[in-house]
Amino acid sequence: MQQGKVSPVSWSSQTVFILAAIGSAVGLGNIWKFPYITGENGGGAFVLVYLAAIVLIGLPILLAELILGRSAKANPVQGMGYLAAQFKASRWWWLLGLNGVLAGALILSFYTVIAGWAVAYFVSSAQGAFINISSSEVGAHFDKLLLNPWELLLWHTIFSLVTIFIVARGIRSGIEKAISWMMPGLFLILLVLLGYATTTGAFGQSFHFLFNPDFAKLSWQGVLVAIGHAFFTLSIGMSAMMVYGSYLDEKASLVKAAIWIAIADTVIAIMAALVIFSIVFANSLEPAVGPGLLFQTLPVAFGQMWGGWLFGTLFFALVIIAALSSAISLIEPALSWLEQRWQIRRAPAAWALGGLIWLIGIASVLSFNHWKSFSLLGDRNIFDTLDFITTNIMLPLGGLMMSLFVAWVMDKETRRSQLNLNSTFERALVFDLKWIAPVAIALVFAVNLLSAPT
Ligand code: PFF
Ligand code: NA
Repeated sequence: MQQGKVSPVSWSSQTVFILAAIGSAVGLGNIWKFPYITGENGGGAFVLVYLAAIVLIGLPILLAELILGRSAKANPVQGMGYLAAQFKASRWWWLLGLNGVLAGALILSFYTVIAGWAVAYFVSSAQGAFINISSSEVGAHFDKLLLNPWELLLWHTIFSLVTIFIVARGIRSGIEKAISWMMPGLFLILLVLLGYATTTGAFGQSFHFLFNPDFAKLSWQGVLVAIGHAFFTLSIGMSAMMVYGSYLDEKASLVKAAIWIAIADTVIAIMAALVIFSIVFANSLEPAVGPGLLFQTLPVAFGQMWGGWLFGTLFFALVIIAALSSAISLIEPALSWLEQRWQIRRAPAAWALGGLIWLIGIASVLSFNHWKSFSLLGDRNIFDTLDFITTNIMLPLGGLMMSLFVAWVMDKETRRSQLNLNSTFERALVFDLKWIAPVAIALVFAVNLLSAPT
């Protein structure tokens, strides 16, 4: 049956696609979020569950999502519609695409606010504000930033403008150009920081914290957070990878791409966490401070180390770029839908959509000051609520449905031709998508619904 094939664009090569997908995966999730949620959830046991979630749930669903994208060759909403028609399934599958469109927009609304913190730190670092700074001074610096909504709004706006500007220009000239040199740069700076971490005297303690599991410290809520983060960090469950896959030609290997994405993402997250906890323990700081962790620790290191002014400024520049390459993929599901389904030209669609998301983001800006104690869901303020609903509910739910579609609805031949994998691995993957991933996600949802009053 003839499929959608409405995607007007394609990647210029397999390598560029892998780089863009890695660019989407590697972002604030690795450098900012993974360390702080690990700190909040007690370390080792959380990391172990997270790693298991990456291998058993994340990687298979990433593959499933790429398969869906490349076989639908369309934006997620219409794409799921085409696939459902092709495989004679319920027409309601388009809702899975819509879930992705909405989740992406909501995540982007707060992602740009946090990325704005990195912009603020880039500027402070360049001005020399962190030279010889003490850890309590950095803490004060951070608190002051968060208490100033106008400043947060400024950085949020700047970051949003740059994101929209890039996506408005389209895939080839916008996205591809920006990413090919950033990931290697980020990796190199993290290596330098890792070297510094070994000189703090607390590297061993940091290592122990991350890799010595103590299950008494892990709650079911923590397991949900670990699984949710596996989705967030790999950019899966919300059809960003599906759209990226829809721009890919048939020759490229999805398996190879998925493995590279998962490895790069995991290595960078672990490196960032090792560095940050070395600084935390060396300065007797608290690992469970929450979202400020990165911003309250790293400047101390930069302030002390040789060349710290340069490395620090460069580091925040790279965090900004890593966040940018993720932000552009967060908007792509909605944007491709506006372009393909509603025939809106890319540039105006990007500006209108981006403007709306920017507006929603203001609620997150205010969540760190004026509306800090305004609770929306349980004791979560607006920012926490958006983060919780998207990362811990919409993404796992989206991923669950994707795995079910590829494992149960799609026919074997289509799946096989997309995968091009030897039969043992293929069977293992399908088994995982049929049973392991969906049951694990459903189980964690169930336990959380029964046990946590949120
Ligand atoms: N994977 C990104 C990160 O770890 O920062 C965040 C993200 C990007 C999530 C794109 C989802 C997405 F579609
Ligand atoms: Na990530």
